[in-house]
Amino acid sequence: MKFFIDTANLDQIREAQDLGVLDGVTTNPSLMAKEGITGHENIINHYKAICEIVDGDVSAEVISTDYEGMVKEGEALAKLHKQIVVKVPMIKDGIKAIKYFSDKGIKTNCTLVFSAGQALLAAKAGATYVSPFIGRLDDISTDGLGLIQEIRLIYDNYGFETQILAASIRHTMHIMDCAKIGADVMTGPLKAIDGLMNHPLTDIGLAQFLADFKKGN
Ligand code: E4P
Repeated sequence: MKFFIDTANLDQIREAQDLGVLDGVTTNPSLMAKEGITGHENIINHYKAICEIVDGDVSAEVISTDYEGMVKEGEALAKLHKQIVVKVPMIKDGIKAIKYFSDKGIKTNCTLVFSAGQALLAAKAGATYVSPFIGRLDDISTDGLGLIQEIRLIYDNYGFETQILAASIRHTMHIMDCAKIGADVMTGPLKAIDGLMNHPLTDIGLAQFLADFKKGN
């Protein structure tokens, strides 16, 4: 299972990279705005800075909603760095753009996916990643993890190579549940990744080992 961090915060990206388990980064316009990154040039420079920190794929989202605009924007983003994955929304022109990028060998991440039908279409168009937003579904009392299960089943039925990128991860149990279902990738906040480390018995056990070591030395 690949681990992506879902943030535009460079300190958090560095921290996750330093842990040695980071496979990539996802960003979106809201995450950029949260860090105060606005304006075309600043956004472009921020993508470049992220690519310098991590070794893996970095999703950069197009803002256009028409086919021509997405193609132009996506091609420019892809030229920024070999790690850039063009993030395209799940709309009709987005599907056409994903097909175009796929034929050109440009990696894509189909974002804002909320149904198995959308995920099927994204795979047919040749998306590299499909991003079902599980947290936002849970927020409206719909089963986000159930969607991951449905997509896994459909992709396995036909051997689609599109990777399921479980997105809108809110907490550590989301990561664990996605791992059990077989999501290829998860993207979440640093806090959710850090949560995987914690267990009170680890802390108690370590304190005991250190105390016993001190007794004998
Ligand atoms: C995915 O790529 C999105 O950036 C993200 O996971 C959205 O998550 P949110 O629902 O927490 O905004």
